[in-house]
Amino acid sequence: MKAIAVRPAAREVALIEQDEPTIERPTDVLLRMLDVGVCGTDREICAFQYGTPPDGCDHLVIGHESLGEVVEVGPAVSRLRPGDVVVTMVRRPCDHDHCAACRGGRQDFCFTGDFTERGIGKRHGFMTEMVVDDERYMHVVPRSLRDVGILVEPLTIAEKALIQVDQVQDRLPWLATGAPGSRRALVIGAGPVGLLGAMALIARGFDTTVYSREQAPNPKADVVASIGAHYVSATDTTLPQLAERIGRIDLVYEATGASTVAFETMKILGTNGIFVFTGVPGRKAPIEIDTDTIMRNLVLKNQIVFGTVNAGPDAFQAAIRDVGSFAERWPAAVRALITGRYPAEAYRDLLLGPATGIKNVLTF
Ligand code: BGC
Repeated sequence: MKAIAVRPAAREVALIEQDEPTIERPTDVLLRMLDVGVCGTDREICAFQYGTPPDGCDHLVIGHESLGEVVEVGPAVSRLRPGDVVVTMVRRPCDHDHCAACRGGRQDFCFTGDFTERGIGKRHGFMTEMVVDDERYMHVVPRSLRDVGILVEPLTIAEKALIQVDQVQDRLPWLATGAPGSRRALVIGAGPVGLLGAMALIARGFDTTVYSREQAPNPKADVVASIGAHYVSATDTTLPQLAERIGRIDLVYEATGASTVAFETMKILGTNGIFVFTGVPGRKAPIEIDTDTIMRNLVLKNQIVFGTVNAGPDAFQAAIRDVGSFAERWPAAVRALITGRYPAEAYRDLLLGPATGIKNVLTF
């Protein structure tokens, strides 16, 4: 069967042939891949800046955003049946007894760093025709979401972030009684993580602004407008002007991976605000940042800054629920997030060519 793989030692990205996997353990499930999303992480792996093949293997099959259909189940599988549509989680736990997170099924908070990730770190991924994994890592998606279920994994980033935002803002119990729109969020970056984050924020009643490089009109700005958020372009509005326009910013959701703009944005975070980092910047030369202003604000304005990666079962469940409700509320905007579906043979342009569109999907 076909698979898309990188060979880091040979600096090669190729469409390869490999054997079909088979069910080996009683709780294994065999999936036929329906859709596999292409994201910035895949493109970084294909630029050899990230990603590690499994031990003893010279290549890594990439792909971690997936939607699959159950073809066969092992004898001890209890939750899934052939025909079910599922999203498979990305991260697998480390082996250490002392890692309370992994032992508790929350490898997204792994302490040791010895976790593995399908399609990213030491485990083959989903850009292939058939996949086997344990049922415990699979979440059923209603068949009615067949066309948009590929958005579940990228949405889990925002869902995990917002679960933590709620936990942090339990410190401000009176906020829960605020009128819709009384909390203001700023999303920086209008890629899939940013746009899905904006949808999740609007759904929770935040008055939401998306700040991005490209000048409007453009397809991303159209999505932002159609969900009732505001699009502001960095080409005509500076961050201080943006701060003036929005007023107090309660939440910044960073979805650019660009550390300079992120730290500049930290300066305009409001009182009692939260700043969430989701991007993974490439390592570039150090830059100067205004640490006195940032530290004064953090202290004098009770601010909280946190980073978040990967996602647990709660975020996957929330993402499945929300993709469904977004698709009902904003059908055209959700469809517009998926720029196109392409056969596996189109991998070169999508992974190595200039980034285009919003979410590109490979089909196998
Ligand atoms: C994936 C996460 C993963 C992270 C770091 C992201 O693109 O969505 O599942 O944990 O990369 O490898």
